[in-house]
Amino acid sequence: MVITLQKENILIVDDEKTVRRGLNRCLTLRGFSCAEAGSADEAMESLKNKPADLVILDIMMPGTSGSDFLPRLKKSYPDTAVVMATAVVEPDTIVKCMKNGAHDYITKPYDIDELVSNINMALEKRKLELNLRAKSQVLEGKIEEQAKELQKLFIDAVESLVSALEAKDKYTAGHSRRVTKIAMETAIAMGLKGEDLDNLRWAALLHDIGKIGIDPNIQNKPGVLTPEEYDIILTHCVIGPSIVQPLVNDKIIEVIKHHHDSYDGSGLNQKVSGENIPLGARILATADSFDAMTSDRPYRSSMPISAALAEVVRCAGTQFDPAVVKAFLKTPIVNSLKA
Ligand SMILES: [Fe+2]
Repeated sequence: MVITLQKENILIVDDEKTVRRGLNRCLTLRGFSCAEAGSADEAMESLKNKPADLVILDIMMPGTSGSDFLPRLKKSYPDTAVVMATAVVEPDTIVKCMKNGAHDYITKPYDIDELVSNINMALEKRKLELNLRAKSQVLEGKIEEQAKELQKLFIDAVESLVSALEAKDKYTAGHSRRVTKIAMETAIAMGLKGEDLDNLRWAALLHDIGKIGIDPNIQNKPGVLTPEEYDIILTHCVIGPSIVQPLVNDKIIEVIKHHHDSYDGSGLNQKVSGENIPLGARILATADSFDAMTSDRPYRSSMPISAALAEVVRCAGTQFDPAVVKAFLKTPIVNSLKA
């Protein structure tokens, strides 16, 4: 059986034909596969046809010098190792070439043993760099996979919490999901994107989660709540954040905390008002109230859509942010309900 060893491809770039030829012969005898180019342009042409593992690049060439050509070469072929060749060692030029990605340099006239040793070292370094890059790509892939798994675990945890809340209170079944839909459409109408939209989605799904900790007799009371009972109900804005704190970021916590705040600051124990209430909480307040008005509750039947919409409009500027109300009225869900 004949074993064919993979030969490394070397491109010799030198304006002196005799130098190129001599070097080509010597390196071919040492087992390398060589190509030649007499200028920067010829080198680019040659690399286009046959990529090289390593380029020996003469610094002093008429037209584009090797040091000027190096950045273009490395930009097009970042994985190709480059050994600079020079008759005169100019430290500044050598430093510049190394900064621009050259692996090594060699002086002319060539000592072939020294050159081959430099070539082997540069090829070895290149191999290590390529291996390292391949490994870090695998690692990045694994990190991405783990992030997706974590995201899935988070979504499952949120779903479980919402289901636990809805199992406890049959009157709010589906409320969190409906509020999420309305809030998202309102946010989109207001131009929210990316992370802000994601944060609002989780806050909306989890906004009432604190009701898990409220006495079910108060929560499901078939009559109007006393002020004391309403105070107790409102503690869900404090209990909720403490439940979901390990799962979500601070922005989501703030939205949950403030979702019962009135825009004009008139809410019970309210510390902020107007634009100081997180925008997500202002959006949630409108979506939450509208869904509550249009759903049956233990103490009353649902309101007609038109009456609920009129109430939202009436409360723009007091309970609700007028800009939010304006966007809410433009949402597809409101338009479909009105139709
Ligand atoms: Fe609430």
